[in-house]
Amino acid sequence: ITHTHTHAHSHTCTQTHAHSHAQHVNKQHATEENHSNLMNIQDFSLFSILVVASLVPTMGGPSPPSLALIGPDKAYLNSKDVFQCKSSGLPAPTTYELLKDGNLVATSNILEEDQSTAFTLKISPTSEGSYQCRVATEESIYLSGTLHLQVVIPVSGTTVTSDPDPPTLYEGSRLTLRCVVNKGSHLSYTWFFNRQEVTSSSASPLTPLLLQLVENTLVVETVTAMHAGNYYCMAGTRMETISRFSSSTEVTVKVKVFLSEPQISFTIAKDGLGYHGNVTCMSSRGTPPVTFHLTLDEKEVASAVAKESLVAWFPVAMVPGNFMGMARCRVDSDAQQVTSQPLALEVVPVGGSVTVDIEYLYKMDSKMSAARLQCHLSFGSFPAFSWSLNNSLLPHLSDAASSHALANGGRTLVLTEITQENSGYYLCRARDSYDNASAWVESEPVLVQIIDVTMPTIEVIAIVFCCFVMVTLVGGVACIIWMLNSRREYVGGREQPEPRDRQRHIRLPGTLTIYVTLVDVKKKY
Ligand SMILES: *[C@@H]1O[C@H](CO)[C@@H](O)[C@H](O)[C@H]1NC(C)=O
Ligand SMILES: *[C@@H]1O[C@H](CO)[C@@H](O)[C@H](O)[C@H]1NC(C)=O
Repeated sequence: ITHTHTHAHSHTCTQTHAHSHAQHVNKQHATEENHSNLMNIQDFSLFSILVVASLVPTMGGPSPPSLALIGPDKAYLNSKDVFQCKSSGLPAPTTYELLKDGNLVATSNILEEDQSTAFTLKISPTSEGSYQCRVATEESIYLSGTLHLQVVIPVSGTTVTSDPDPPTLYEGSRLTLRCVVNKGSHLSYTWFFNRQEVTSSSASPLTPLLLQLVENTLVVETVTAMHAGNYYCMAGTRMETISRFSSSTEVTVKVKVFLSEPQISFTIAKDGLGYHGNVTCMSSRGTPPVTFHLTLDEKEVASAVAKESLVAWFPVAMVPGNFMGMARCRVDSDAQQVTSQPLALEVVPVGGSVTVDIEYLYKMDSKMSAARLQCHLSFGSFPAFSWSLNNSLLPHLSDAASSHALANGGRTLVLTEITQENSGYYLCRARDSYDNASAWVESEPVLVQIIDVTMPTIEVIAIVFCCFVMVTLVGGVACIIWMLNSRREYVGGREQPEPRDRQRHIRLPGTLTIYVTLVDVKKKY
């Protein structure tokens, strides 16, 4: 009831609008043909917004009488809705009539002095229209304002259609999802991504990503991997009393990633029968399944489908020391073909000479703290390294307590501290890693020991620097004096009298200034 009042106020505009509808109506025109629509007042249901359309008296009177029609502005098809006619200040009416688009649809005979009546309508597709209430008294006919009723078809059968269909697409392309209903009118749509509502608020999923929501359509202009997931939509009509919604089933959007350039590499192994090459082709990005192809000197020699991963291996013939050809990998997807850089299939056996570099590391207090030994090998594609100290092998796997560590595939030996126990002659050896029977190539032994090097202190450096500056000064002064002397000799050659103070008269720009300044500086010290 409170609600009715609120709306009665908000719809005051209806009253003015009703002026145009105010008219005298011939009582004889009233028919009873739509009486079947008249329902019992008890089984009504009130709908969304109750609108009050007030009366405008058709004839003037001492106190303005009023007539109002109260009812919903939207009603579901096949529901029963109540329209209420209320009068005040009218001479006791005997009949209330409900008009739709000017035609009588219901009549209610009422008891004496009753100021209102209710009509219950069963909503059919033809129920949509403008309703008015009419009251006839002995003197005159009164009409209420107009109430527009919309018939809402309840939603059912919601599905999602996609473009492309099925919704599997490459990153960067456009995705369109539509929320389609089998039946329904006056619908609004809501989208869900991974069960979370998609809105334009920043908390909503997908918000920072480009997408548009228009009517029943969700458009992603540029799909990224982030858009992959499950989508569903909900369509329905929100009404004050009964809101009806229908959800679709989920559709799974899959976003395919473009392939990156494949990387090619190979390994070699030896068993009793001989050598085996193994070429690896691998892409870091992409969506399987893809097909890898191996070409040798531009001729395809093998291919393999990678269903789950982005890697394939190919066995190849390999003879150490022989050039087996230029190999390339190519990876194909349904949209792309990408080729790797070429790789020479050639295994160079370990050979030449081995040398060792030592680098000492010092602490802040100039104490020797660590050493790094690097093993250099002339050539060899797959070398294995081994280190020894005073002719005993260093273990490859150093435990936490030991003071050495191997890095760079055994090529680098780091002595984390230098003690009596690990000082001595170090030696590096290398051989083919794929062949345990191959011969070692050895370096010369190098001595690693604690050397007491007294690092020059900052004071020493400062004194040396001062001495250097003094020497420079003295040299400069001597040079300038020599220049001045040669000038004086020249002036003297002309047999002119020698000025008393040479320095004030001889114009020697620049050098003289420096000379004087330097002398001054020198005098101060
Ligand atoms: C090649 O190497 C890969 C990875 O180590 C291995 O899984 C595969 O079995 C090897 N293939 C051949 C033919 O040796
Ligand atoms: C290795 O030999 C050198 C020279 O003979 C010796 O000074 C050093 O202590 C030895 N180191 C070890 C750990 O035995």
